[in-house]
Amino acid sequence: MTETQFTPRVFSGIQPSGNLHLGNYLGALKRFVDMQGPEYETVYCMVDLHAITVWQDPDRLREKTREVCAGFIAAGLDPEKSILFNQSQVPEHTQLAWIFNCIARIGWMQRMTQFKDKAGKNTQNASLGLFAYPALMAADILVYHATHVPVGEDQKQHLELTRDIAIKFNHDYGIDFFPVTEPVIGGPAPRVMNLRDGSRKMSSSDPSDMTRINMTDDADAIAKKIRKAKTDPDALPSEVEGLESRPEARNLVNIYAALNDQTAGQVLSEVGGKQFGEFKPMLAELAVEKLSPISSEMARLMGEEAEIDQILARGAERARAIAAPILQQTYEIVGMVGAGKS
Ligand code: TRP
Repeated sequence: MTETQFTPRVFSGIQPSGNLHLGNYLGALKRFVDMQGPEYETVYCMVDLHAITVWQDPDRLREKTREVCAGFIAAGLDPEKSILFNQSQVPEHTQLAWIFNCIARIGWMQRMTQFKDKAGKNTQNASLGLFAYPALMAADILVYHATHVPVGEDQKQHLELTRDIAIKFNHDYGIDFFPVTEPVIGGPAPRVMNLRDGSRKMSSSDPSDMTRINMTDDADAIAKKIRKAKTDPDALPSEVEGLESRPEARNLVNIYAALNDQTAGQVLSEVGGKQFGEFKPMLAELAVEKLSPISSEMARLMGEEAEIDQILARGAERARAIAAPILQQTYEIVGMVGAGKS
């Protein structure tokens, strides 16, 4: 099977639940924005239908969908260059997801670790949507014939399932129709950890706001959280190996590196030997310089609801122009009688 027939197209999705924080910015938004350019067509989606696989308050879901949209634009996404929209407004995602529900096997779904984590002990009481979640995710990607999907390490298993669905569909119908998508994992983006406990991921669900930097934090809040971040009493090492078993030190160095588009090694070659008393103010200054323009632009956009809704509507229209013909061809391949040609 060749993959060369497909135009290079990037797709990724982000759930509009929880507050956007530095981990979302460095691990998702900034990466997605950096992929904008002549090399790929870039399609990014707020996956509101994925969000409701667990309960979401409707007003909060609306607010978060607009907040993620504002975050994307404040982070530098150009809504002319990229396609930005919310999932529910392009019905082809759910239409293709149904077909994929009939391709994917129950056994494949039962192996998904995210389902097990999210469903908790009482899997019988989880929503059917939470179980079927990865088939919708495969549809998100394949309804655009996307070839590259930037995601975090935690989504690797879902991307493998996406590949399995594409392969089984192509095999069952004897056609080379869906691309076998490449995951784009890791790269320069670090895993951003909790500021008070370097062994846990930064998360919007931690009860303490001091554990994370929110994309909506102003300069004072950013500086204060960095000043109060947990560290250890030693000076910074000059090489990355010296960060082993120093999770808090490693996290702050990684954050500095990512914000400054450097590697951790480059940062350490400059700051090795410094104490945190000296390094933290450097990091605070850099973080404020890079993040506070984003938070003020987000705040401005959040006050312009009509502007956001218009960007999303236009994005959905452009997304449908790609997705509708691919769904139509899928229906024809599967044997649905309708408006198609055959
Ligand atoms: N499951 C992803 C997450 O929780 C979000 C997502 C949904 C996604 N559909 C996608 C990511 C398609 C990449 C491609 O982070």
